[in-house]
Amino acid sequence: MERFENKVVFLTGGATGIGEATAKKMASEGASLYIVDVDKSELEKTAQECRGFGANVEFEICDVSHEDEVSGSIKNMLDSFGKVNVVVNVAGIQLWHHTSDHPTPDFERTLAVNLTGTFLVCRESIPYLLKTKGSIVNVSSTTALAGIPYSAAYAASKAGVLALTKSLAVEYAKKGLQVNCVNPGGIKTAMTRMPPIDNIDMDLLLRQNPLTPFVEPEAVAGLIAYLASDEGRHINGEHVRIDGAALA
Ligand SMILES: NC(=O)c1ccc[n+]([C@@H]2O[C@H](COP(=O)([O-])OP(=O)(O)OC[C@H]3O[C@@H](n4cnc5c(N)ncnc54)[C@H](O)[C@@H]3O)[C@@H](O)[C@H]2O)c1
Repeated sequence: MERFENKVVFLTGGATGIGEATAKKMASEGASLYIVDVDKSELEKTAQECRGFGANVEFEICDVSHEDEVSGSIKNMLDSFGKVNVVVNVAGIQLWHHTSDHPTPDFERTLAVNLTGTFLVCRESIPYLLKTKGSIVNVSSTTALAGIPYSAAYAASKAGVLALTKSLAVEYAKKGLQVNCVNPGGIKTAMTRMPPIDNIDMDLLLRQNPLTPFVEPEAVAGLIAYLASDEGRHINGEHVRIDGAALA
């Protein structure tokens, strides 16, 4: 039996990178998927590729920082599939700035997408996840565990995701909900390209680099799938670092 047979997965940030890889991984293991993102053309491609595995897939443009869009997408998912077993919060942005020049709107936008977005998706889906004794996997980052230069808002948002994850796990464990997060570092995606800012201290920037080469997003997809599957069921309120020993 495939690990996600008869399971419905709601996944954000599924257009590219870790989200795309996770959607495909779960589709290949029998999941029905409701995938949201803001990147329409890449989202369509992910959905098509997931359907190539024979998966039942719906997708929708949804900016996770907008409360009405999140509640609308959760409702639409329930209309389509009738239930939800797994929620995966992958959507995220990273805006690079020297902190002394960090524009407030960019700080607020980063928190709105990465932290408030994760919160909104959790809040809207929890009532339905409690019915299925489901699982949430949030994507935090190594930047929640150790400092990173030029990305203060991003790091703060990811530390928020870590704290949110543990709080939800404690609040709902007795009711059967499982909530974990992953803390990746050194994954080859659009997000880990060279920061587009001047006067970078490369020693500082490379401080959190893995001891081995960057890996493909499928590595994180495998971990997320494990945590969300029955095999990972007793892991709850945990954060799992996946960073090639960078912070070991
Ligand atoms: N690549 C890494 O090394 C790394 C390390 C730690 C954490 N992460 C986290 O992994 C997640 C995925 O990032 P990635 O590396 O795959 O990069 P990515 O840029 O390929 O993926 C981010 C996805 O989020 C989507 N997105 C952005 N804003 C959104 C919004 N408002 N609403 C809905 N979707 C939105 C993007 O369109 C994109 O599809 C992010 O949360 C990121 O912070 C990545």
